[in-house]
Amino acid sequence: MLPAYYQFYCPVKILSGDNALGYIPFEMTLLDVSRAMVVTDRGVAGAGLLSFLEAAFADSDRRIGHVFDEVPTDSSNRVANRLADLFREQKCDCFIAVGGGSAIDTAKGAAIVLSGETNDLLDLQGAERIRKDLTPLIVVPTTAGTGSEATRVAVIFNEENNVKMSFVSDKLYPRVAVLDPRMTLTMPPRITASTGMDALTHAVEAYLSVQKNPLSDAFALLAVDLVRRFLVRATEDGRDREARFAMANAALFGGIAFSNSMVGVVHALAHAAGAVGHVPHGTANALLLPWGMEHNLDVSAKPMAELSFHLGGASGFLDPKEQAESTISLVRNLLRKLNRISGLPLRLRDAGVGEDMLPAIARTAINDGALLYNPGEVTYEDALGILQKAF
Ligand SMILES: NC(=O)c1ccc[n+]([C@@H]2O[C@H](COP(=O)([O-])OP(=O)(O)OC[C@H]3O[C@@H](n4cnc5c(N)ncnc54)[C@H](O)[C@@H]3O)[C@@H](O)[C@H]2O)c1
Ligand SMILES: [Fe+2]
Repeated sequence: MLPAYYQFYCPVKILSGDNALGYIPFEMTLLDVSRAMVVTDRGVAGAGLLSFLEAAFADSDRRIGHVFDEVPTDSSNRVANRLADLFREQKCDCFIAVGGGSAIDTAKGAAIVLSGETNDLLDLQGAERIRKDLTPLIVVPTTAGTGSEATRVAVIFNEENNVKMSFVSDKLYPRVAVLDPRMTLTMPPRITASTGMDALTHAVEAYLSVQKNPLSDAFALLAVDLVRRFLVRATEDGRDREARFAMANAALFGGIAFSNSMVGVVHALAHAAGAVGHVPHGTANALLLPWGMEHNLDVSAKPMAELSFHLGGASGFLDPKEQAESTISLVRNLLRKLNRISGLPLRLRDAGVGEDMLPAIARTAINDGALLYNPGEVTYEDALGILQKAF
């Protein structure tokens, strides 16, 4: 059934495959920019990944102007401001983010500051507040999870208020996403598992969202299929190039899906658990996903049932609710496998969250914009109940 009305937009040019990085200088020529600010973090730089990027510039008249490698886990408003200052000082004219969601969203945050619309990022928080075109951004993801290389979203930690701020605007789409199989091979197993579950959560929540549509569904299902086939393999053997590359595509497809249909209760709770308890984003989504799905079971039985086949379940159930329950069991099986292989935490208590933090997480979550797209209503009591089950 088609929705009565829908929109779909993805203006990102995608370069995916062997030596994709090699095309970046040419893309800069097409964008008419010449001096890039590379945005990354110490973990990515320490894994030696920048050498591949530098090699791509060897025979080019385009330049890496400066490398900023001080992105913390979860980008923050202060770091985005500092990066914007440095960008001006170094006279750069585009960003190349090389890293996971933290590096990518820091570049997005700095680009918002540079647009000159405000001196304070807080002013532009929320949906559709950014009016100006932003500094061109080329993204090279090194995790396979957030999909931020193809989303109209930036998630930035507000150090003053201890909340994760979401920025949503078509202006935040990167110009080019570069999926190069060399860039995720060094990701440790635990981060592989947790970021891969972020990709799955995007796909599942996009597929259940009130704003789902045939195009976001198509991308969501592609992502779910790839995660089912390749996430365990990539976690077990990080050098498995086929699995790594498949997961990079899964994350991209999940990003395209949720950028259009948005996410729901699992992300609302995960953002809050990240802000209050500093739980890594992928880990929070992983351990909350089955509980969030259970909460939505009655209102979303049909689409949730459809996902069971894509997660490797048998077909032939007659009752959608029964089949939707089997979808949740398949997610739980996957989580147990990932826990055995990588130590991915399965409970909030094992991810550094104290029981006394649950009310604050629930309070923060019910103000998260993601809840607008969740298929069922979520009250404070519901949020707290889900957190208690996941504790
Ligand atoms: N904008 C969006 O659309 C969107 C969507 C989902 C999540 N997010 C945000 O993204 C952030 C999380 O991003 P993430 O999960 O990608 O993690 P991350 O960027 O925080 O990286 C996690 C860790 O992995 C290391 N790492 C990354 N790639 C590596 C590699 N190839 N080899 C070795 N180490 C590597 C990093 O150094 C870092 O220590 C959160 O702030 C989350 O809210 C944004
Ligand atoms: Fe996410």
